[in-house]
Amino acid sequence: MRTQGKQEEDSELELALTMVNELALSKKGRYLNEIETIVFRGAWYGQSYEKMAQNSTYAQSYLHNTVAPDLWKLLGEIFGTEGRIGKRELRSYVSRIVKKVGLSSIPILGEPPDICSFYGREGELANLKAQIVQKRLIYVYGEAGIGKSTLIAKLFAQISQGLSQGFDFLVWKSVCYGPDVEELVASLYKMLNLEGDEKANVSGLINQLRWRRFLIVLDGFEAINTKQRRDYMKFLLHFIEEVVDGCLILMSREFFLELSVLLNSRCISTIKLEGLDIQSAMQIFESKGLSDYKGGSKAIELIEYYRGNPTELTALAEKISCFFGGSIEKFYEYKTTFISDHSQSAFQQLFALEGGLSDFGREIVIYLASEISKESKPVDFSNLLGIFSRKTDLSTLVRELENLEGQSLIEKKNISGEACYMLPPVVKKYVLSQALVQGTGLRK
Ligand SMILES: Nc1ncnc2c1ncn2[C@@H]1O[C@H](COP(=O)(O)OP(=O)(O)OP(=O)(O)O)[C@@H](O)[C@H]1O
Ligand SMILES: [Mg+2]
Repeated sequence: MRTQGKQEEDSELELALTMVNELALSKKGRYLNEIETIVFRGAWYGQSYEKMAQNSTYAQSYLHNTVAPDLWKLLGEIFGTEGRIGKRELRSYVSRIVKKVGLSSIPILGEPPDICSFYGREGELANLKAQIVQKRLIYVYGEAGIGKSTLIAKLFAQISQGLSQGFDFLVWKSVCYGPDVEELVASLYKMLNLEGDEKANVSGLINQLRWRRFLIVLDGFEAINTKQRRDYMKFLLHFIEEVVDGCLILMSREFFLELSVLLNSRCISTIKLEGLDIQSAMQIFESKGLSDYKGGSKAIELIEYYRGNPTELTALAEKISCFFGGSIEKFYEYKTTFISDHSQSAFQQLFALEGGLSDFGREIVIYLASEISKESKPVDFSNLLGIFSRKTDLSTLVRELENLEGQSLIEKKNISGEACYMLPPVVKKYVLSQALVQGTGLRK
């Protein structure tokens, strides 16, 4: 359990890092990269290079002799000091400046989720901070529970508390109830207190936003149905055409193929959010009190098995703690696949007969689950062609496979030049355990 003192210390470090990153961006055109951030953090806590190396995947000599000297020079340059700012004086110097400059707080409209725990994601945050000043639209997608909302909530918190990147305001809007564009626009008018200024329609809203610097997040975009998406595409095109300085972040469990037409634009980017890296995921095991996670190959195997998904790993660690006395070794004697309640309900929505997957999509997933459970190896594309080409044409099959991949339901690997398909273990478990396979005639 983290003590309050430790939390304050951490948030002081986060503020310092935010300020250093802002300065680095304005003076050097970039943020600190992942490895510089590791050295900065280590130096902040007075760690030796040996300790920093133990906590990372980099060699001690590389951190000490290559990364650190360049970082001290960079800090000296961005703070405009005569010489370098080295390891020993870093913390006192940077804290003093943070206090002196003071931290402006930017208003957040709407309610980002609370952040209960947050590990890793330094690279993703640095990337997002660079993108929000360059892009008009960022589409963040990834499977349920992978940490999309938490990541963007963290970004909001850092921007709001840190030196403003010149943003006037930040807006958090959930669209998980599937509003039409008109409903969304009316709701944004209300949140921004624009009622009465202009007609509450798309053009009016965009006129109001055109010259402002803002960040608007629409969370839960997967709830926007196929029929509504056409209007949303028009709205987005209009938005990126007209808005000069603001950025819209869309978050979704799936990648909509309709978006592909927008991707040629330089002011749009898409980010597929993957799971946590091994080190950060280990912190979940630590926080749940597992006794034998350190240095164990089984802990790494579990993290990879669950694709670093923090929701799955948290649920798993709680089960291990509750039923196996916190021992991964003991759990391994009976190893099984657990599905968190969060994913279970996401799958139920997806596999529901209405509004979820297409019939063909379900059929492919069920077939893959059945094949993989028999053979325990990926299914190659020619196998799928052989099975499905009798009932559909090639382009429909390819499009459906792309769709399923965009929903993180299937995974594609290239093996000896051929596309091969697998299912993430939790998807396979869900499909097999829900008896979706029965009655399809696919499972022998
Ligand atoms: N970086 C992280 N470190 C530790 N825990 C995390 C991290 N990111 C997410 N989590 C945990 O995982 C859970 C799910 O995260 P989050 O709600 O952000 O997922 P999501 O991708 O938005 O899911 P959904 O698609 O269902 O909205 C949260 O309860 C959070 O505590
Ligand atoms: Mg979310």
